[in-house]
Order: sequence, then C-alpha cells, then structure tokens
Amino acid sequence: MANTAELTVDGKSYEFPIFEGTEHEKAFDISNLRDQTGYVTLDRGYKNTGATKSAITFLDGEQGILQYRGYSIEELAAKASFLEVAYLLIYGELPTKEQYSTFEDSIRRHTLVNEDMRKIFDGFPVNAHPMSVLSSLVSAMSAFYPDSQDEKSDPDGHIIRLLAKLPTIATWSYKRSLGHPVNYPKNNLDYISNFLNMMFALPVEEYKVDPVVAEALNVLLILHADHEQNCSTSTVRLVGSSQANLYSSISAGISALWGPLHGGANQEVIEMLEAIKADGGDVGKYVDMAKNAKTTGFRLFGFGHRVYKNFDPRARIIKKAADDVLGKLGVNDPVLEIAKGLEEAALHDEYFIQRKLYPNVDFYSGIIYRALGIPTNMFTVMFAIGRLPGWIAQWKEMREQKEPIGRPRQIYTGATLRKFVSIENR
Ligand code: MLT
Repeated sequence: MANTAELTVDGKSYEFPIFEGTEHEKAFDISNLRDQTGYVTLDRGYKNTGATKSAITFLDGEQGILQYRGYSIEELAAKASFLEVAYLLIYGELPTKEQYSTFEDSIRRHTLVNEDMRKIFDGFPVNAHPMSVLSSLVSAMSAFYPDSQDEKSDPDGHIIRLLAKLPTIATWSYKRSLGHPVNYPKNNLDYISNFLNMMFALPVEEYKVDPVVAEALNVLLILHADHEQNCSTSTVRLVGSSQANLYSSISAGISALWGPLHGGANQEVIEMLEAIKADGGDVGKYVDMAKNAKTTGFRLFGFGHRVYKNFDPRARIIKKAADDVLGKLGVNDPVLEIAKGLEEAALHDEYFIQRKLYPNVDFYSGIIYRALGIPTNMFTVMFAIGRLPGWIAQWKEMREQKEPIGRPRQIYTGATLRKFVSIENR
C-alpha cells in the first residue's frame, strides 16, 4: 500500500502521508493541507473527517462491529459489570480484583451530593426537563470543585465524583416531578441498585431491587458507554481542548446528547409509538406515512444509523434483553405491541430493507426503559449515565495526547467588503 496520497490542484502535485490504524482504517493526514495548497476541505457533518487518533473504541459500520479497548460489545454486555466497563474505557484495561474494589469503593463513597447543589436544583421549575437539570448541575460541580479548572490537577478525583454523583443528581428530577422526596444514596448498595433505589424507593414502603431490572440496566448502560467520535463525544473533546475543566466539558456533552437527532432519539421513539397508539394503533398506516414522508412529514425515529450500514450490534443485544425483560416482568403494554409491529415491518418490508432502516439501539432502549418503569423524559438521562465513562475516557485521552485546541476552518459565502451607510441613508 502506498504510504502517501497525491493531490494535484492548480497544476501542482502534493503528497500527504497516509496513516493506517490498528484495524486497518486509513486516512490522509492533511494537517498541512492549507499551508501547502491554500485549500481547506469541506465536509459538512464531518462524515469523512477523522478528528483524532483514538485507542478507546473501534466500530465498523459495514460489519456491525463495536469494541471497547479491543473487547467485543457482545462479550462485555454478557460478562462484565458497568463499572468494570467504565474502568476499562477510562484506564485502558479491565481492572484486577483489587483495582476494581478500590474503584468501586471510591465511587460508593462519593455518591452524596453537596447539599448546596440542592438549592440550585430547587430553583428549577418542577417540570424542567431532566436533561436541562443534569447539564446545569454537572456544570455547577466545577464551582464546588474549583481545582478542576487547574489543568495540572489530577483528574482521577473528579472522574470518581462524576461517576458517583451523576446517578444521584439524575434521580432528583424524577422524584420531584412526582412530588416525592428525593432519596439519598446508600453506600451498602451497588451502583445500579443504588440508582434504582434512589429512583423508585418511597419512605412509606420497602423497595426491593428486581434482579431482572438491575441486570437489564447493567446491559443497557454498557451498550451506551462509548461510541467513538459521535456528536456528544466530539463536543466533550472540543470543549476540553480549550482546557475547560472536566465538569464543563461533560456538561457540554450532556447538552449535545439531548438533541432528538442524538441521545434524544429514544424519547422520540416512545413519543412516536404513543402518537400511533393515540391515533388508533394502525401500524400499517404509519409505515405508509413513513414511505411518503415528503408529503406526510412523518419522521420515523429509531430506525437506521448514520454509521452502521447493515445493523447496529447494540440493537441486537438490546432486542434480546427487551424480549427477556418484557417476558420476565410480564409486561403487557399496547405501545410495546405497536413497537413489535413496526419492528416486523422494518425487518421484512423491502422499503426499509433497501434503505437500511433496521431498528437501532434507540428503538429498543426506549422500549426496555419503559418496561423498567423509567419515565420517557428520563430516557436520555439514562443514555447520559451510560455514556459518561466514554465521555470521560475520550476527554482524558485528548488531554493525555496533548491535542491542540479544536478550531475548524470554513469557506465564507457572505457579502464582500462594502462601505458603512448611516441609518439616515439606509
Ligand atoms: C451513539 O451511540 O452515540 C449514537 O449511536 C450516535 C452516533 O454514534 O453517531
């Protein structure tokens, strides 16, 4: 294979080095393109642009492969705990028993949130979207831990605080939306049981964690833990590249994830299913509307993916978990029946097959969260809890790689130079 790429422009030829990664992905390194040629590249949405070299997550959109630090998502989902995967993503290796015990114990002991954060929280309207609360309070953490702004400070303490406190903060919105008291974390519970207890425990009755729910949540969080340079992760890296602190960078990632085209898609899926149910539940009618989207304006959420061309490996795992959980919990929900009808169409209708509109991770995650009793407006919060270790790992790698501040170029298409005209003469 040639190790350079040749570009000929304006009668001159230039060579650019070719970089090949460990999974044989190849890139032209155009770091000096503008200096050499006077040209920049245009790539809206960065679909063809590699922003960095990374050793954290590999995905192959054609083969439907997803690996965290070389371990397949299938193996990790079946054999690991979410905190083991968090440690793997952040520190690069699966933890030994001792490393895991120290990591898990540190997290247990940092789940309590400064009571003054509750004063900020109490200022939100009761119906504030949980993602607006989450991004605001995570950013506020930089005020409670100001040494985080010192880019020479050891990030490990802030990494533990974020992993430990995000679930605690996440449950506040839900409890307040019900008019229920928030629950404090309990150090005798594991990570996922603690979250479920904070979400669903009531002072008036004993709450017992259902192991089926806990295991399903463990899988869901693992599947969402990282996904290379997606929108929110790229946001975290870009904000962090200015040497903004970890909390502010993660808060920016939470805001990016909230968008319905990204992490908000799982909430859109359930809202779409509920709208179909409210309109009589005729799946065929909505399949036809999706096929004539230009005239109907009906957008189908939860199908296809901008990276995976044939199937989303996470969706396959979640689909099995969803069938498993719904069966074990004996869930009988008409919205979920509508989902199965849409899934059937997507997997067998030529229109969907030709356009690679297969059910993706957001389609099934919304269904399973609903079955677990998690409210729709908390779905993207669940995505954020899962994605947090990936964001942290990517931010840490960006810092360790001493990446330069991210500053893309543009091609200007506005008015050319013109003279100012006073307002009397306009
Ligand atoms: C993700 O997991 O971040 C989503 O699938 C979106 C993406 O990777 O672009």
